[in-house]
Amino acid sequence: MNPVRIALLAALTACGGAEPAPAEAPKPAETTTKAPSAPTAISNAAKVFGAGIAAATVTDAERPLLDLGRALYFDPRLSKDDTISCNSCHQLDRYGVDGEPTSPGVGGKRGGRNSPTSLNAFAHIAQFWDGRAPDVEAQAKGPVLNPGEMAMPSEAAVEKKLKGVKGYVDLFAKAFPGETQPITYDNMAKAIGAFERKLTTPSKFDRYLGGQADALSADEVKGMETFVATGCTACHSGPLLGGQTYMKLGMVEPYETNDLGRYEVTKNDAHKYVFKVPSLRNVAQTGPYFHDGTVATLDDAVAKMAKHQLGKQLSDTDRAAIITFLGALTGQVDATYTAKPTLP
Ligand code: HEC
Ligand code: HEC
Repeated sequence: MNPVRIALLAALTACGGAEPAPAEAPKPAETTTKAPSAPTAISNAAKVFGAGIAAATVTDAERPLLDLGRALYFDPRLSKDDTISCNSCHQLDRYGVDGEPTSPGVGGKRGGRNSPTSLNAFAHIAQFWDGRAPDVEAQAKGPVLNPGEMAMPSEAAVEKKLKGVKGYVDLFAKAFPGETQPITYDNMAKAIGAFERKLTTPSKFDRYLGGQADALSADEVKGMETFVATGCTACHSGPLLGGQTYMKLGMVEPYETNDLGRYEVTKNDAHKYVFKVPSLRNVAQTGPYFHDGTVATLDDAVAKMAKHQLGKQLSDTDRAAIITFLGALTGQVDATYTAKPTLP
């Protein structure tokens, strides 16, 4: 694991609640199947999910870079015909997605994969369903030149376009003080990446992990227990309930797809149909689901996961319980931070 990511994860696991998670609670002495006490249940959960994620903070020194990144994120002029921005496919007022199975780019062309949410993405092990970009800065260089997305012809063409906008000359100069030629393709990606690194969405689940037992309803706690008992946490664990490992889709029962996943990146046969395990933060809001966007409902996504990844058929009650828990992972980013700015 690279040091930057360890630091990020540490920041992410840092508890945002007032109370720290209770340390190792003593094991209850009785051997009955009685439900654990609230502090024990929280402590058990924190072993699997960490102590919760905290809202991002912004310092004054960071503001010029973030303001630039926000403008670029929302600016359709980063596309060939001035119609498509990052926000077209990763809409910040729609939990970082567009609700489409696959997304229309310039000229209405669609790629073969579903747009994952940009929220919390910076903290993943790598970017894209197959992990082909190491971080959000590297990722941001892809879509602008991708013919199926923003379709700009070259890095030089992007730089020229940005230099032609007076407001960007000022914003880049402020964001990269001391650089003689601040408008570069790399700096564009750095600014967008910096903006994305604040898209953290704490929820009531984090208040629960932080020690506030009543932050979750009894049904949500029951759903969490079902999620753990079913074995979902074999892959969806940690502060983002995923985002940290690559796993085969169709672990137990093969899943029909033409997408070879991580194999496309590594050409290693063992990586066929392997995908980055998605984070389940905000998942109730980010359908349709799976890398190809073919799964319309969360209910179906949960049923398919149980079947293909664990070889289990879940009862209606268990699926409903898990979905109730997943709803508790819906969080918020600061609405002012993510509001569409006046473009330069
Ligand atoms: C036309 C729609 C479209 C546009 C425009 C677009 N994206 Fe994406 N984005 C996607 C799709 C589809 C994927 C997944 C592709 C894959 O995995 O191969 C993706 C993946 C990502 C990811 C990875 C998330 C994860 O969980 O791995 C991030 C972050 C992201 N995009 C940010 C951006 C930024 C920043 C911009 C603007 C510079 C942008 N996107 C423009 C559709 C789009
Ligand atoms: C063996 C690892 C593994 C297990 C176990 C597992 N998952 Fe997944 N999960 C994945 C992978 C990999 C994907 C991505 C699938 C794809 O790329 O199409 C995924 C995708 C999902 C999605 C869709 C997310 C999205 O944004 O499209 C949901 C919801 C989900 N899992 C929930 C669950 C639940 C609930 C369980 C337990 C019943 C579970 N998973 C068990 C690996 C796993």
